[in-house]
Amino acid sequence: MSNALGKSIRKDFPIFSRHVNGKRLAYLDSAATSQKPKIVLNAMDEYYTHHNGNPGRGVSTLTAEAQEAFEKARKRVAKFIGAKEDEIIFTRNTTESLNLLSYVLPSVLSSDPGRPIAISKMEHHSNFVPWQQMALRTKRKLGFIPFKTDEAISDKNLAAPALSSSQPAPPAMLTIAHASNVLGTVNDVRGMANFAHDEWKCPVVVDAAQSAPHMRIDVKNLGCDFLAFSGHKMLGPMGIGVLYMKEEWMERLPPFMSGGGQISKVEDNSSAWADGPAKFEAGTQDVGAAVGLAKAVQYIENIGMDNIRSHEKKLVEKTLGMLSGIKGIEVYGLSSSDNRVGVISFNVNGVHAHDVSTILDRHGVEVRAGHHCAQPLMRELGVASTTRVSFYLYNDEDDINALHDALLDVKKIFGA
Ligand code: ALA
Repeated sequence: MSNALGKSIRKDFPIFSRHVNGKRLAYLDSAATSQKPKIVLNAMDEYYTHHNGNPGRGVSTLTAEAQEAFEKARKRVAKFIGAKEDEIIFTRNTTESLNLLSYVLPSVLSSDPGRPIAISKMEHHSNFVPWQQMALRTKRKLGFIPFKTDEAISDKNLAAPALSSSQPAPPAMLTIAHASNVLGTVNDVRGMANFAHDEWKCPVVVDAAQSAPHMRIDVKNLGCDFLAFSGHKMLGPMGIGVLYMKEEWMERLPPFMSGGGQISKVEDNSSAWADGPAKFEAGTQDVGAAVGLAKAVQYIENIGMDNIRSHEKKLVEKTLGMLSGIKGIEVYGLSSSDNRVGVISFNVNGVHAHDVSTILDRHGVEVRAGHHCAQPLMRELGVASTTRVSFYLYNDEDDINALHDALLDVKKIFGA
C-alpha cells in the first residue's frame, strides 16, 4: 500500500504536531470536519491583516480588495465543480444551503400537493430535516426511496414499485446524498438525475457534503439542478458553504433572506432583487472564510483529486481487511472499497459505540460515535449507534495500525 500521500502531507497541517492523551494524533474523523493546512490558515490571516473591508459597501480601496477576494473565491469554487461563476452562492454550510432551497423551491414546484418529495433514509439530518419540515409546511408527503444498506442507490431504486405505487403522482422533486456520511456509499447521482428529469420532470438536489472533498465533481456531468457542500470538510474553515444553483433557476427562485447586499432597488413599499448569486447572499458575507476555502481548493487541486481518491481507497481496503480480522466486529455498508468514499461504520459486539470511542481516544485515535446525525438510517440498520472512522489525504497506515491496537484494547477492557 502506498503510504506516500498521508506521510508527506501531514507536515502541512500544524495540528499533527500535537499529541492526544500523550499519543500520536490519529485523526479519523474527517467526515465530521477536516483539519486545515497551514496555507489555508495563512491565507485567512493575510486577508484580515492586509485587505479586510466590507465587499460591495462603498468605493474605497479596502472595500474593492475585499470584493475582489470574495469574487476570486467564487471563481475558484465554480471551476472546482465545473460550474459557472454566477451559479455559486456562498452560505454558511451544507445545512444552510439546503434550508435555503427548502424555503424557496416550493414556489416553483408543481402545485399538486399529491406529488411527494423523493428522498432516501440514507440522508444525514442536514438533507432530511429541512425537507421533512418543508413537507409539513406545504402539506406534501415524503416519498421514501427503497434501498438496501449494502448497495448504492441508483435509478433502479427510483423505478421500484415501492416508491411509485405508494404515491398517487410522480415526485415533485428529488433530493439525494452523493455519498453517505455513515456508510461512505457513493450513490449513482447521474443516473438518478436523468431518471428524475425524464420520468418525473422535476428538479434534482444533491447533497455533496461527503463527496465534494473526496472525489471529482462536475455538476454538468452529474446533471443536477442544485448541489450543496461545506468548506470545513474539505480543508477550509468552518462557516462557509456552497450552494450550486443551475443558472436557469437563479431568476425563477425568490430570495431566502432579504436585506443589505441582495437588492437592486429599495422603494418605500417594495424592493427589487440583485441579479445572480448576490440575490441569495443577504448581509455581510464571510469573506475571510471564502478566501480560506479558495486556498483549500487550490491545495486539493495541486495534489490532484484522483490521487486523493485512490489514496483513500487504499486506506479503506486496508481498514476493511484489518476489521475483518478482529472477531466480533460488524461492519456496515458495501463489502468493498468500490463506490465508497473513505468512511467506515462498525460496531464492536456488546460494547456501546461511545465506550469504543472513549477507549480509542485514550490511544490518540479520534473517531465519531453515535447516530451521526442520521437517525432514519440508524433505524434502517437496526442499531442505535455506530463507531465511524473517516479518512482524508493526511491519513496513513500508522493511523490504521493505531486503530487496530486501540480496538484490541477495547476488546480486552470489555471482555468482548
Ligand atoms: N455531517 C457531519 C458528520 O457526518 C457532521 O459527522
